[in-house]
Formats: sequence, C-alpha cells, structure tokens
Amino acid sequence: MSQPDASFETLLEHLKENRGFDFTGYKRSSLTRRVDRRMLQVGVGNYAEYVDYLEVHTEEFTALFNTILINVTGFFRDAEAWEYLRAEILPRVLAAKAPDGVLRVWSAGCASGEEAYTLAMILAEALGMDEFRQRVKIYATDVDEDALTHARHATYDERQVRSVSDELRERYFDQAGGRFCFRKDLRRSVIFGRNDLVQDAPISKIDLLVCRNTLMYFNAETQSRILSRLHFALAPAGVLLLGKAEMLLSHAELFLPIDLKRRVFRKVPRPVALNGAFLAEAAPSQSRAVMGGLDLLRHAALLASPLAQVVITADGLIALCNRQAEALFEVSDRDVGRPFSDVVLSYRPVELRRYIEQAHAERRIVQVTDIEYVRGGEALSLDVQISPLTDADASVLGVTLSFHDVTESRRLRDELQQTNRQLETAYEELQSTNEELETTNEELQSTVEELETTNEELQSTNEELETMNEELQSTNDELQAINDELRDRTSDLDRANQFLETILTGLRAGVAVLDVEMRVLAWNRRAEDLWGLRQDEIVGQHFLNLDIGLPTQQLRPLIRRTLAGDAGPHEIVLSAVNRRGRPILVRVASSPLNGTDGSASGAILLMERDSSAQPDGTGSEPTEQHDGQASSSG
Ligand SMILES: C[S@@+](CC[C@H](N)C(=O)[O-])C[C@H]1O[C@@H](n2cnc3c(N)ncnc32)[C@H](O)[C@@H]1O
Repeated sequence: MSQPDASFETLLEHLKENRGFDFTGYKRSSLTRRVDRRMLQVGVGNYAEYVDYLEVHTEEFTALFNTILINVTGFFRDAEAWEYLRAEILPRVLAAKAPDGVLRVWSAGCASGEEAYTLAMILAEALGMDEFRQRVKIYATDVDEDALTHARHATYDERQVRSVSDELRERYFDQAGGRFCFRKDLRRSVIFGRNDLVQDAPISKIDLLVCRNTLMYFNAETQSRILSRLHFALAPAGVLLLGKAEMLLSHAELFLPIDLKRRVFRKVPRPVALNGAFLAEAAPSQSRAVMGGLDLLRHAALLASPLAQVVITADGLIALCNRQAEALFEVSDRDVGRPFSDVVLSYRPVELRRYIEQAHAERRIVQVTDIEYVRGGEALSLDVQISPLTDADASVLGVTLSFHDVTESRRLRDELQQTNRQLETAYEELQSTNEELETTNEELQSTVEELETTNEELQSTNEELETMNEELQSTNDELQAINDELRDRTSDLDRANQFLETILTGLRAGVAVLDVEMRVLAWNRRAEDLWGLRQDEIVGQHFLNLDIGLPTQQLRPLIRRTLAGDAGPHEIVLSAVNRRGRPILVRVASSPLNGTDGSASGAILLMERDSSAQPDGTGSEPTEQHDGQASSSG
C-alpha cells in the first residue's frame, strides 16, 4: 500500500476542502494505516486514485470517516480511574462549588455516550437523584454524528452494559427486550452536541473536563492547540481527566498533575505571578535601626550577586546596576541616575517598561519568561523578575529587575520535554494501536457471529434438505413398489397377451378384434394369410376403411348390431378376393367383445373360407345368418 507522501497530503487537503473535515492534525501513523485499510476494502491502490474514487462515490466519505474515527469506548472504561475520580476528585470539585452551584461537566470525544452516562451515574450516586437533576449539566460532544445519534438514544445491549455493576444497572437502566435504556429523568441532564476539538470554540466554565483517549490521535502541534482550548474551558478550580495514555508532561505551563498516574490535572492560571509575601520578608522592620551601618555591606552584596540586577527608583531613574548586569547588558555605573527608559535594556531584549508599570500598580512580582537574548554570538535564554520595593508603610520605593540565565535549565527542560513528547507519542501510539486492535477484534467478532449465523442457517437448510431427502426416499420407495407391481402386472399382461396370441394363432379362422369405433385391436396370423396385411400394418386402422379383398363396408350392419349389444351370433357369407387374387367366399361371424361390466366394448370377427359354396366371381349378394338361422350365398 502507498507510503505517506505528497499524494497523501493532497488527499487530506481534498477532504478538508470538499467535505469540511480537517484530518491534517491527526497522527500520520495511525491515519495512514486506517486510510490504507479502507482503500484495501474498496480495492484502490494509491492515494491519487482514492481521491478520484471519493469524487465518484460520494458515500465513501462516511465509510472513510467511520474507519478513521475510532469509537472504542465503554461504561467505566479503566475502572480504577473512575474510582479515583469518585473517591478523591469529586469531593474536591464539589467542595470548590457553592452548595447550590451548578456543576458543569464536559465529556469531550464522548463517542457513543458511555463515558457521559458513567459520569452521570457517579455524580447521581454522590449527590442523590434530586440534587443531580437540579445541579448537574453534563455536556457530551464528539465530531462523529453517527456516534452522537447512538449516544442520544441512550440504549445499549447486554454486552455493552456488562461493565456496569448489577446494582447500578438496576438503578440507572430500564430494561426492555434485552436492551438497556438509561433512565429518562436523568438522561435530560446530559446534553449531546457536535464539537470538533480542533476547530470549534470550547464550552466554558467547566468544573470537570473529561477528555479521554481522544488527544492521542492528534499530532503534537494539534494537541497543543486543543489543550489551550481545554485550558480556556476550565473554570479556575476546574479539573481535567485524561485517558491513561495521555500524560501532558510537555504542557506544564497549562496543566499541572494532581495525580499523574491517574491522569488528573488542574489548570495553571495565566499569566504566571508569584505571591507578594516574598516582599514582606525582604525588609524586616526591626532591622531599621541598624540599616545605615549595613548600607555599604548591602550595596556590596548586591553588586556581587550572581544574578544580574538593576534597581530603578519609583520615578524611573536607574539607582543601581550590579556587575553581572554590566557584563550582560549595555549598562554600567555611569548610567546610575539616568532615566531607565533611555537605556537600551528598557526595551531590548524585551519591552520591560510596561511590566515595571504593572509591578508598581499591582504591588506584586511580575515575571517575564523565556526571553531570547543573543550576546557575543551566544544565544541565551533569560527569565526576568520585576519586584516592587516598598517601605514599611507599603509605599513604592522602586523596583528591582533580576535577570536569571536559564539557558542551561531551558535546554535541559526542552530536552526533557522532547523526550517526554516522544514517550507520550510512543505510548499514545501503543494505545491507539491497541484501540485499533480492539476495533478489529470487534469487527472480527461480528464477522464470526455472522459466520455462526450463516452456519446455523446452513445447518437448518441442511436439516430441511435431509428431511426432504427422506421424504423423497420414501416417495421413491413407494414408486419402486408401484413400479414392481406394474412390472408384475405387465408380465401378467404379457403372459395373457401371449396366451391370447397363441389362441389367436391357433385358430383356423382369421380373427379381427375391433373396438367400439371399429378400429382394429388385434389381427391374427390366419387373417394375415387371408388378406395379405400384417398385424402391425393394420392395428389402429378403421376396419371398414381397410383396403383388402373383403368388402368390409358390407359388414357395417352386422358389426353395428354386435356393438349395439345384440349378442348374435351374426354371420354373413361374402364374396371376396384373397391375397393371391383368387375369388373366394368368406363366412364372417361377428360376436361381441364384452367388457368387465358385461357391455359390449368391441366386436370379434371370425373370417373363414366357406368351402361349402363356390364363388361365382360376380360378387353374389351376401347372405346373412342371424339368430341361429343359417343362410348361404347362391
Ligand atoms: C477512542 S474514542 C474515546 C471515547 C471515550 N472518550 C472513551 O475514552 O471511552 C475517540 C473519540 O474521539 C472522537 N474524535 C476524533 N476526532 C475528534 C475531533 N476532531 N473532535 C472531537 N472528537 C473527535 C472520535 O469520534 C471518537 O468518538
């Protein structure tokens, strides 16, 4: 898959410009991993192609968005931190509030809401339900609208609420159809909304800010931006709770740990100012009596101080500058008595005049830190402390400027910060990889569940098929039995046919068996001999239409009578021509072929040469014998 490169940055710019979402501040390692993963899913090979894909498939952004924003969360996630919050931090936060003051809580990066409802349960337990409803507002925000929709429904399945104790689950959730819904009356105190931590204004005057496992997805620069917003969001006594991978070691100017291990921090007020008590200690009143005698000593001590110092009178004149100050800046003893505003030091390396005014006005020490100063090609880092000097009745005598060379300690601090940052980054990456693995795990679990369902469906289909198979088998058996029976009957029939055939063949007379429509059903060997047509040529043909030497039309009345049920016997002698073309007289006797019910289902014609009479070759009139009366042709 593609390496992070210019085309990846182009992709991020594309998302920013076209979809209004800025991923540029997210850590590249995790970001590229997740984008690569999505590209693999849609079968795109590089970032440039993916930009094209996004342009064509507008719905793809949502899928990408869901892949990038990891929504792993849970009720009481990292239980130890919540227990510490309940036992140690909450009493402190509540103590800082008026008894009826509204408690403002913010869950930033709340995902599907479990964190916000965890806070609600902890606070309701601490305050009681009524007070909770009256005093608590929990703002819960995320950038992911889908996650927020889920959070607003406040409904979770059995697996999701497994980390809530039975007791709390009983008290705070209504159960219906295997789902657990957070109590509606308390749910009203939790306000969900979309807030992009990178771009949107923070919520303000927050007493307890919970932002867990979210910062770690951002790079150091974006983390700094977010942290100064979180700093702004907190009330002066507010407390910040981070996730266990987030240490803030490199942001000591904004937050100081209350308990670093549990990732609980307090806000550092800005600007940094020291306590005025220091001044009171500076001039103990009981030493006034001997002060004149010690002046020289004090002056010498001041001159020899390892700190560069300049003293300025209340009306802005330089009263003293020591040796260190002379060595460091362009000031010297000769400037004593000159207005401080006339010397370069008053505005370089830093504009000092307004700080001096501030120290005068506020009667407190003012500090200016991290001043860059280049001297003789060497870059120094200085902190300046401007301390007002007051006499016993607190009127201002002047100020003293003390310059601390903190180059070395700054270097060490920067190195430490850098190391801390690397440590934090490594730790956060570990955590985010862990969360990704959790997501992947969940995805795998759901795939496994799907497979299990498919498997069960297959099993039940299989069982159905087996049942059908068994049914088919038994139908098959039945068919087989019917088949066997049919075969038996067929062979019975064959035997009967053969028997009939033998009889028919054995008869000296020609036999034609007709059905009710006078179609030929059977035709024996003798009939073949007589008329020269084989059985297979004749079966199925209408008897009266046969083109043989017998004048079949003349038999119509005879056959009709037989078919009408007249048992006969009916006989007729006809002149005919045999197969050799010789004229013969044929005696035809017709008798009924009776069905099982006794009715005539056809006729049997016996055709015999009548040797008692000689044919005259002229086709003499047929003579019919009926009902036992014999007649013969003339
Ligand atoms: C891993 S979850 C943490 C959920 C919860 N705080 C916890 O610790 O269980 C990270 C959340 O940060 C959200 N997030 C990512 N970028 C964000 C941004 N720019 N602004 C606000 N939330 C963001 C994600 O949508 C996701 O819901």
